[in-house]
Amino acid sequence: MSALEDLIDDSVKLISMTHVPTNGGLVNPAAEVGRIAGDAGIPFLLDACQSVGQMPVDVDEIGCDMLSGTGRKFLRGPRGTGFLYVRRSILDRLDPPFLDLRSAEWVGPDRYEMRPDARRFENWESYIAGRIGLGVAADYALEWGLEAIYERIRLLADRFRAELSQLPGVIVRDLGREQCGIVSFTVEGTDHGRIVQQLSERKINCSVSPRSGTLLDMQGRGIDDLIRAPVHYYNTEDEIDRFITTLTEVRNS
Ligand SMILES: Cc1ncc(COP(=O)(O)O)c(C=O)c1O
Repeated sequence: MSALEDLIDDSVKLISMTHVPTNGGLVNPAAEVGRIAGDAGIPFLLDACQSVGQMPVDVDEIGCDMLSGTGRKFLRGPRGTGFLYVRRSILDRLDPPFLDLRSAEWVGPDRYEMRPDARRFENWESYIAGRIGLGVAADYALEWGLEAIYERIRLLADRFRAELSQLPGVIVRDLGREQCGIVSFTVEGTDHGRIVQQLSERKINCSVSPRSGTLLDMQGRGIDDLIRAPVHYYNTEDEIDRFITTLTEVRNS
């Protein structure tokens, strides 16, 4: 945070941050960044694609001006859906990339007026079924409660990390003071693609995050790729134990 504060001067026009990265459990301290951005009067854009649905996300507590989210990840909504939040006070400083008959009104031969609300970022034509599905997914998550969801996720992820770190040659790669449900690790001397494939054959789904997905981070940490095995609230303790046993078998095969 102090490094960020030191960087701030008149040339800074935007602070843009990923709340939770795609390749690990790190939860960035968004509200602390929001306070710094707010004090300096700099717009703050937060990519919350990996955090929405797994933890409480409150734009006022965080202090972000714009926030983007997706339906298909921890929210468990339909693929191809997502959403953008824009704080009203910043709306007039942003130009939507495209304007059409939903985002603006044609009011004279050479004049249009943009909508006064965040719908200026929407298109007339859209994926209605997907939007309904996204709404249902959001309601479903809210019914369980994001606090309860996050508590359960963290319980499982902490147990998973603790068990993984007992395995010889396995290094848990999650960073940060606060860690969420994305569990990432490397297995020394193995081809991670082969491990993931063999886990899949045993009905355990996880994936490989390649260096190219988050090049600066992976390069900085000297990692070529890693295994990404997130948990959600519906996972069980038994499934984690089975993952650990199966990983050990697969690794030794
Ligand atoms: C941090 C982050 N932001 C954005 C995205 C893009 O998500 P979508 O393709 O659903 O818009 C991803 C996808 O993995 C992500 O990890």
